[in-house]
Order: sequence, then structure tokens, then C-alpha cells
Amino acid sequence: MATDAGRTSTVRGAIITGWGAALPEKVLTNADLEATLDTSDEWIQARTGIRQRHIGDSTSALAIEAGRAALDKAGVQPEDIDFVLLATSTPDQQIPATASVVQHAMGITGGALDINAACSGFVYGLVAAHGLIATGLERILLIGAETMSRMVDWEDRNTAILFGDGAGAVVLEAVDGPGQLLGSDLGSDGSGRHLLYADPGGFMIMDGKEVFRRAVRVTVDSTRRTLERAGLEAKDIDLAVPHQANVRIVASACQKLGIPVEKTVTILDRTGNTSAASIPLALTDAIEAGRVHAGDAILFVGFGAGMAWASALIRWGGVGAGSEASDGPAPPSPGDEGGTA
Ligand code: ACO
Repeated sequence: MATDAGRTSTVRGAIITGWGAALPEKVLTNADLEATLDTSDEWIQARTGIRQRHIGDSTSALAIEAGRAALDKAGVQPEDIDFVLLATSTPDQQIPATASVVQHAMGITGGALDINAACSGFVYGLVAAHGLIATGLERILLIGAETMSRMVDWEDRNTAILFGDGAGAVVLEAVDGPGQLLGSDLGSDGSGRHLLYADPGGFMIMDGKEVFRRAVRVTVDSTRRTLERAGLEAKDIDLAVPHQANVRIVASACQKLGIPVEKTVTILDRTGNTSAASIPLALTDAIEAGRVHAGDAILFVGFGAGMAWASALIRWGGVGAGSEASDGPAPPSPGDEGGTA
């Protein structure tokens, strides 16, 4: 790996200017699962933190709904978008890329690409989007969308209780100067690929205990590398948006990192694990709850099948946003939900 990998580029940056979410209408509660599986609401809540998940729709339908909301929020038209990056491990079809389906339905004419890095896919996409913008693109629609319910064996209590469907999206726009990305860390340990996999057309098979153990470890290690590259410490993080798999994974990683749990976003109680959609869904939830302010340092960290991991630290609104002395780029979008810091 190049020694400067993951450090902030000063060439041409990007900031998030729009965001959106989509969840299927149908809700499956733990009580619903009790009716078909040897499990209980009490066990699921105690071991995972999940109360319910949303099930249904296609990956492209969810991606389009979230993508349209993100464009609306950014105040940009489909023709303004140069590229659709779609993070998913549950594409509608093997080929073409679901990003192409989304692009066409939304009236976007630029490039379209699916990314499969399982639950880390959105953060992989976030870093890739900054790279594409550094090459000269102006605006990218980045979506995480999944229909995990299609890959789950509903008779397997080890996995059926965990997953849900949904999509989250952001618009990234080019700015002069370094933009928002402060540091990042992308990685994968393919020797652990047997711990979580699905063959074509097959169900997901998972060694939950070992995935849990590794998830805590890579979340901590990757976050430390990203902080180091950004020249920041855990105490500087204003908001952590971790992959939404299990509240015990988040609590354990936060405790090791010294990040107060109150600074993290949790939506998995309502959504279950939506894989690549979980981080943009959680970000949108936090913005809409008024938890995101110009100048905030926001951590994204994901892990999952591969075993792949990814973390990125951004300055909301771009470097310099939120400070009075700032001559940096304007904070995202008129009516930034969080107001100024
Ligand atoms: N209901 C009731 N009992 C259950 C259930 C269930 N749904 N599932 C397992 N059990 C039982 C087990 O059989 C076991 O019983 P035993 O002690 O009699 O043998 C007992 O509960 C404990 O089982 P464990 O597997 O040790 O439970 P654990 O506390 O590890 O929780 C869980 C299991 C929730 C799967 C946890 O290991 C986990 O969250 N792992 C990480 C999974 C994950 O994040 N995967 C996604 C990665 S992201 C991606 O790429 C898609």
C-alpha cells in the first residue's frame, strides 16, 4: 500500500449536499419471527438490539426512492449527476449492474457502477466517489441499497433475525479545496471469506460468533488508522455512524476506542442489519434528528463479508465549515438540518 493511502488529498475535494432514505412499508417484528422460528423477542433484543426490520421491494426500487430524495435535498436535477455508484450485495440481476437500472429510471446519463463490498460497500463507495471527483467529475449519486430478505433462509434462526431491506443515498459535489474527507482506511482479509457467504442463488451462511469477534477488532483498528491519517483523536469525533449490525458490536468497539455511546447513531432497533444501506440510512436519520452540524467530524465505519472493512472521517460541510474564520466551502444545502455549529 502506498504510504500516503488514506490521507487527505488537497487537489479537488467534495462535500455531501443531499441525502435520502427508503424503507419498504412491510414491517416484520420479533413477535412475527417468534411465530415461525424457535426464538423470542427477548433473546433477539438482548443479543442484537433489533426490534423489527422492513422487508420487501426490489433493490433498484429502494435505491431509486432514496436517490430521488437525495437529489431533491441537494436541489440538483438528474442531468446534473455525472455518475451513479451503487453499493449492494443483493443486485436485482447478476448483469446488468443495478446502478444502470437506477440511472435509467432516474434520467441520469453519466457512468453507473455497482460496488460489492458487503456491509462496507457504502464507505468504499464514499472514498471512491472522492477519487472520481478528484479526476474532474462534478456530482456523484452514491447509494447503498439492499434486499437482504431475498438472501436469508427464513428457517435459520442464526441469520433470519438479523437482516432487513432498505436504501440510503447521498449526493456528493465537487468543491474548490480539500472538501470534507479527512482520512480513510479500506481493507479486506479474504482468508475469512468462509465466515459469511452466499453462493449464487443460495442462502447466506454465517459463523456469527467469529464474525462478531472480528467485527469489533476491525472496527477499532480501522478507526484508529483513519484517525491517525486525519491527525485527530477519538475525542475529536462529534458523531460516529457505524454499520448497524448489532448494538453489542457498536458498544464494545466504542468502549475500546473511548467514544461515548451517546455520540453514535443507532437505527438497527428499527431496521435490522441492512448491509450496505445501513450507514446512509443512519446518516439520514441523524441529519433529520438535528444531530449533524456544519464543522462536525463524522466517522463512518463498516465491516462485513469478505471480510472487508472501511472507515472514513469527514468534516461536515468541508474543512473550515462551522468556524467563523472559515473561508472554506459553504455548508451543505440551504436549510442544513443541524444549523451552524
Ligand atoms: N433465538 C434464540 N436462541 C438463539 C438464536 C435465536 N435467534 N440464535 C442462536 N441461539 C442460541 C444458540 O443456539 C446458542 O444456544 P446454546 O448455548 O444452547 O448452544 C445460544 O443462543 C447462544 O448463541 P450464540 O451464537 O453464542 O449467540 P451470540 O451471542 O453470539 O449472538 C449473533 C449471535 C447475534 C448472531 C451474534 O454472534 C452476532 O451478531 N454476530 C455478528 C453477526 C453480524 O454482524 N453479521 C453481519 C456482518 S455484516 C455483512 O457483511 C452482511
